[in-house]
Amino acid sequence: MKRILLIGYSQTGQLYQILDNILAPLQEMTLDQVKIEPKEAYSFPWDSHDFFDKMPETVLERPIELQDIEFKYNKYDLIIIGYQPWFLSPSPPITSLFEVEAFVKLLENTPVITVIGARNMWISAQKCLLLKIEKAGGRLIANLPFIDRHQNLLSALSILHWMLTGNKTRKWGLLPKPGVSDEDIQQAGQFGEIIAASIQKEQGSGLQEACLKLGRIDIHPSIMLIEKRAKPLFYKWAHLIVKKGSTDKKRARWISLYKYYLIFALFIISPIVLLIYTVLFRPLLFWKIKTDKQQLLYMGIGDK
Ligand SMILES: Cc1cc2nc3c(=O)[nH]c(=O)nc-3n(C[C@H](O)[C@H](O)[C@H](O)COP(=O)(O)O)c2cc1C
Repeated sequence: MKRILLIGYSQTGQLYQILDNILAPLQEMTLDQVKIEPKEAYSFPWDSHDFFDKMPETVLERPIELQDIEFKYNKYDLIIIGYQPWFLSPSPPITSLFEVEAFVKLLENTPVITVIGARNMWISAQKCLLLKIEKAGGRLIANLPFIDRHQNLLSALSILHWMLTGNKTRKWGLLPKPGVSDEDIQQAGQFGEIIAASIQKEQGSGLQEACLKLGRIDIHPSIMLIEKRAKPLFYKWAHLIVKKGSTDKKRARWISLYKYYLIFALFIISPIVLLIYTVLFRPLLFWKIKTDKQQLLYMGIGDK
């Protein structure tokens, strides 16, 4: 019987709901489910300062301390990693997982599926994670990003409402419901069925293609553009804040500056840039965008 390790972290439980549904059709296999817990839990709902204060160390991929992790077996036929991006980087609990020697050893020569529960920007984080998986000798066979499909600015506002109040509700009855939609969460089992069939028969080859055929995974060109521009800027801010924030007071001032910069960039600069890009450049770049999108959807996957 095939052995599957499902390991991940979720702060609000959203990603666990997705993973549970993916796992439902895999119940006939031997499952080991591990939830990662930071030694010091993040408070939820977030305090606004704390939320933005997590940026520098997250982007610089500095590990945190985790509760002890135990695995039932010393070899698996498949490892499913569930994670979420924070500030365009893997969340700290996931970065830290790759510091756990026993886990890194399990990855060697093992097929891996990543399941992401994001707002809508997961590309840069997946690049970071891919490096870690490859370094450990793992082989990515599929990547399943679940996102909020609403317009970027609306989803940014609604997720801030969720994160800062703890309510996954429609703010003022006007904004969309934040996070991954109930429908996408419920339909996640479709991926589980495809994974079950593929693992039994073909050792995961062609899995990403089969998953993409469901038509539930897509990347919007504007998100590709924003992420490409934003990650290098996040690195600069992260280094700057770590360097200049030598006392709590100084750090708080720099975090505050970064927060206002981010709000300005997201709500003022990016709509202007995207308007120019959509009207002038997107039609000219049609084929390049199409190729880039395909590359991102199959990023790091060996069989395509
Ligand atoms: C501090 C923080 C930063 C985040 N940054 C991003 C991001 O860069 N891109 C993104 O798509 N979502 C981002 N999100 C949303 C998360 O990826 C995730 O969808 C949400 O926190 C719910 O995940 P959960 O299952 O851990 O509760 C962020 C969330 C938090 C708390």
